Amino acid sequence: MKVLGIMGSPRIKGNTDLLLDEALKGAQSRGAETEKIIVDKLKISPCREYYGCLKDGKCVIRDDMDGLYQKILDADAVIVASPIFFYTVSAQLMLLISRCQALWARRYVLKNLDIPVKRGAFIAVGATKGAKLFDGPKLTIKYFFQAINAEYAEELLMRGVDKKGEIKEHPAALADACAIGQKLAAS
Ligand SMILES: Cc1cc2nc3c(=O)[nH]c(=O)nc-3n(C[C@H](O)[C@H](O)[C@H](O)COP(=O)(O)O)c2cc1C
Repeated sequence: MKVLGIMGSPRIKGNTDLLLDEALKGAQSRGAETEKIIVDKLKISPCREYYGCLKDGKCVIRDDMDGLYQKILDADAVIVASPIFFYTVSAQLMLLISRCQALWARRYVLKNLDIPVKRGAFIAVGATKGAKLFDGPKLTIKYFFQAINAEYAEELLMRGVDKKGEIKEHPAALADACAIGQKLAAS
């Protein structure tokens, strides 16, 4: 069982990063092999609508997405974690998501049914407490999960957490993140 964590915050050891680490530890505790991708450290262009992927499901842009497509395809579960920036996921994460249009084209245009099914979880942290804080990002992640053939299985959405590392004052959230990893690894 391979669990891939996609860390969308530029803030290392920030709230998103700490929650994702707990989730990955939870998965490890159930015997899963885990890997964490820090999107901010990668060179990823946004989708440029060249539409080369409509021919063969492969993106024509050469950058750090090259190795990532296979990691996403090989994972049995994917945990996507992001801070909320302007009511959506981080720009860094959005670049990666936009490039998964190539996998969307494989599934929905080329009708390639070989993309293995996986489970997905979404972890998000925002500073404010608005009722609609996660509406937009949840739709984005659900649609991303469709492209990579992941079921939207688990979520942890934390409101009212702002300063770096402030999530440590919310031990229940850290425990919930750990439980998400355990559940993903058990299934
Ligand atoms: C550019 C930027 C935009 C933000 N936009 C929002 C927002 O729309 N809603 C919100 O509740 N918090 C917003 N925040 C606050 C972050 O979501 C919050 O500080 C979060 O805890 C950061 O998580 P991290 O430590 O994992 O990076 C924003 C922060 C930044 C830097």
